[in-house]
Parts: sequence; structure tokens; C-alpha cells
Amino acid sequence: MHSTRIDLSSKTRARVIDLLNARLADSLDLQMQAKQAHWNVKGPNFIGLHELFDKLAAELGGHIDDIAERIVALGGVAHGTLQAVAAQSRLDPYPADIADGRAHLDALAAAYAKAGKSVRKAIDEADKAKDADTADLFTGVSRALDKNLWLLEAHLQADR
Ligand SMILES: [Fe+2]
Repeated sequence: MHSTRIDLSSKTRARVIDLLNARLADSLDLQMQAKQAHWNVKGPNFIGLHELFDKLAAELGGHIDDIAERIVALGGVAHGTLQAVAAQSRLDPYPADIADGRAHLDALAAAYAKAGKSVRKAIDEADKAKDADTADLFTGVSRALDKNLWLLEAHLQADR
């Protein structure tokens, strides 16, 4: 770890840097999944879904930057390479053989739910490690993931 004048113990910083890198991997994976959906979706709702999926990917970009820069601010190294993400992401692989809008909505909703569950857990873990700022960062990410899960699920729930 790099040294910093931040008044958090090195134990706290080490713990929280690990937490942040784990969620960084999920978030980068999720962003690529949203782009995969943006590019490959087809069907009667094409344009709406194509634009929604791009908006989701762009919004994730902001969270990804916040997470990565918090890691570095705490003296860590942000692991944002494709290789690191592939090794660390806990999301399921995105299906490569789907085209239909509903299939993409289902796949992305499952990925948002899984990423959201881990971020919600990370809020408590950052709190326990005594880093309220990282807990707050995770809380913002969590709220955005929940909101965007709703945008995805709203397309699927009319007939349920
Ligand atoms: Fe595009």
C-alpha cells in the first residue's frame, strides 16, 4: 500500500481496498454486460432497449470511476484490467447466444441483482471496518443499482 495522510488505519485501508476492488470487478463486468446487450438486442422494442442499455453502461462508468479513485486515494492499486476483472468478478458469464429483448432484460436484471446484493453487503463491511466514506460510496452505488434494476424489471412485470 502507498502511504497517505488520510487518518484511517492501515488495517482499515487494506480491508476496504479489497472490498472496493471486488466491487470494481463486478461493476466493470456489469458495464460490459450492458454494452453487450446494447449492441446485440433485437426485436420490436429494439430502439428503447438499445438506448436504455447504453444509458445503464454510461451510468456505471461514473460509479466505476468513483470506486477506482477511492481505492487509489486510500493508497491502493485499482485492478481494472480485463484479466483482473475476469479473475475477480462474481457475476455469471453473460449469455452470448441471446438476441430477444426479453432475454437481454432477464440476463441484465439477474446481473444487476447479483451485483446489487454484493454492494449492499459491502456497505456493512465498510462500516464494520470503520470507513464511513466508503460505506457512503457503496450506499450510493447500491441505490443506483436498485433503481436501474427497477428500470429493467418494469419491462418484465406487466403480465405478472
Ligand atoms: Fe452505441
